[in-house]
Amino acid sequence: MPSSSAQTPGAALYETSGLIDQYLEFHFGPEALGVRNFPVACIEAITASISPGRRDRCLDLGCAVGRSSFELARHFEHVDAVDYSAGFIAAAQAVQQQGSLTYHVPTEGALTCQREITLQSIDAGEVAARVHFQTGDACSLPAALTDYELVFAGNLIDRLYEPQLFLDSMAERIRSGGWLAITSPYTWLADYTPQEHWLGGYAAADGSPVDTFHGLQTALADQFTLVDRRDIPFVIRETARKHQHTLAELTLWQRR
Ligand SMILES: C[S@@+](CC[C@H](N)C(=O)[O-])C[C@H]1O[C@@H](n2cnc3c(N)ncnc32)[C@H](O)[C@@H]1O
Repeated sequence: MPSSSAQTPGAALYETSGLIDQYLEFHFGPEALGVRNFPVACIEAITASISPGRRDRCLDLGCAVGRSSFELARHFEHVDAVDYSAGFIAAAQAVQQQGSLTYHVPTEGALTCQREITLQSIDAGEVAARVHFQTGDACSLPAALTDYELVFAGNLIDRLYEPQLFLDSMAERIRSGGWLAITSPYTWLADYTPQEHWLGGYAAADGSPVDTFHGLQTALADQFTLVDRRDIPFVIRETARKHQHTLAELTLWQRR
């Protein structure tokens, strides 16, 4: 269903079963190295910062296997949840429809251990049906995905083939007074985003550094006001003894 234009070499990685299991562990598994569950920490920080207002419709873009979507469903009556990866969306729908899912995580060498996640264990049984999962391309969304009070793009921008297309469409999809929450570790890689489309992380023609926060400000300043900016750490487990420990930056913008 997604357009072939999103087929950068990196995008295909998200379809591999190892990565689906890794993201199930990241979203639903036990916390590692004392760092809080990332989707839970993001949605708590965002919902505490936005005004109570209308909490009817929100959009989780790049939702992966769905934990942030279920967390948003505690606060919003309807959550549209979109990801480019059919494998991630199928896993999220399996959790939603069956109420549980088993997967395997590497321990060491060729050894793995089995995990089971349940909607009950994250206390989301009552709200999970509010989420509508679908495949889609954040750079070319269908017209019906509009009129949102909040759009959450968790660690998405530096995985898009042309992030400016996504940013340009936000003003028409978020209501006046509504919110755009972006997290990212700004790890630009040409496998996902051709360098001419990076929002930052490069030197300008005069040699001065352009960082991604300033790239976001440039892209959003006409229509959005920056309301919050903070770090949110996350840990992705590779094996029982090896993890990626990363700092994402959360920026929260209000549509004027
Ligand atoms: C680094 S993961 C972050 C997933 C999740 N939001 C999180 O914070 O754990 C990036 C996600 O963006 C998705 N993605 C990549 N390109 C996309 C596109 N063009 N449209 C929608 N989703 C995309 C990937 O499939 C993947 O689920």
